[in-house]
Amino acid sequence: MTFNRDRMPVSTGCHARELMMTLKNAGICVVFLLVVQILWLGASHSQSAGIPKFKEEISKQEGIYQSQGEKTPEGYVIDRGLLSYTFTLPAEFDHSLANLGPTDRWLDIGAGQGQAVLDYFAPRYDSMHPAGRERRGKKAQVVAMSIEDRRTPLWHQTAANLEANKIQYLFGKRLREYSLEQLGQFQVITDLLGGFSYTADLSLFMEKALSLLALHGSFYTILQDVHSEHGANRPYYPDARFLTEITNANGSEVKVCSWLKRITCVEVTCELRPEWKPPVEVYRIHKVCNNVTVPTLVPIRFEAGTPPERGFQVGNPLPASPGTNSTTR
Ligand SMILES: C[S@@+](CC[C@H](N)C(=O)[O-])C[C@H]1O[C@@H](n2cnc3c(N)ncnc32)[C@H](O)[C@@H]1O
Repeated sequence: MTFNRDRMPVSTGCHARELMMTLKNAGICVVFLLVVQILWLGASHSQSAGIPKFKEEISKQEGIYQSQGEKTPEGYVIDRGLLSYTFTLPAEFDHSLANLGPTDRWLDIGAGQGQAVLDYFAPRYDSMHPAGRERRGKKAQVVAMSIEDRRTPLWHQTAANLEANKIQYLFGKRLREYSLEQLGQFQVITDLLGGFSYTADLSLFMEKALSLLALHGSFYTILQDVHSEHGANRPYYPDARFLTEITNANGSEVKVCSWLKRITCVEVTCELRPEWKPPVEVYRIHKVCNNVTVPTLVPIRFEAGTPPERGFQVGNPLPASPGTNSTTR
């Protein structure tokens, strides 16, 4: 399996080169070591240097989200269907979705065009999933979330033919900007190269996602090109880093899977798909009690891309600093 449009396999030490080629933006390949940490720590002498650079990368990332037509980078894929979700996410996802009843709810974070949601409501879904058909009835209520509005005419047509609010498309904000009161809880949450891969604040993202996950519900997601639980893989691109890296304060590595397993009240499985290009690690995060605590990660590196390259350090929560707001994070 090749994710030939997300982080294309170009020979480069900087994964954003694909982006540079598509956006023709020669300034994009800039690594911001410690910039965001400085931002949060509020080190005043560094702020003037760090904040503009960090903001520049965030602004480039925003440019990717808002890109249209030919300006959309080739690596920014927004139209994966449900088959692609089923094939990519942990095997349990297909069964979890098929077993949802009409009072259950599914949240797709980073839905792009929402094609997976449309496929779930297409007649073909039931013929492909005969088991659980009666229980499913009119199917679960679904919320598709995207920063930018990527709805298609088919989305509007499908929504109009379903009962009110059966499918909702939320856009204009990031996951963390919604409250539990606004969204409610969901039995199934998915994120296929959406916010989990793109957020600049991974622990805040996880806190919010797990607060929205109902007890005994599951969150299914993946990361591309990440050091796997058992550590056998190397970065996919020569001379490049892994796309998402976590370190302790002393610089030692913390694998993403280990960090996820430190979250309380969840059972986590991590599975590397080494044959994929680039390899992906897929995660199932199953909520078993409500007292969820997510170990804080401080963002230390962010480089715009599809997906962006990110570095985090395990650390204590840091005070909000002037100039830091929900859109810059
Ligand atoms: C590469 S597209 C993936 C779309 C879809 N999952 C697919 O596979 O076709 C990334 C999606 O994630 C969304 N996204 C990125 N960060 C997000 C965040 N923090 N909260 C919500 N959506 C986010 C983008 O707006 C976009 O809809």
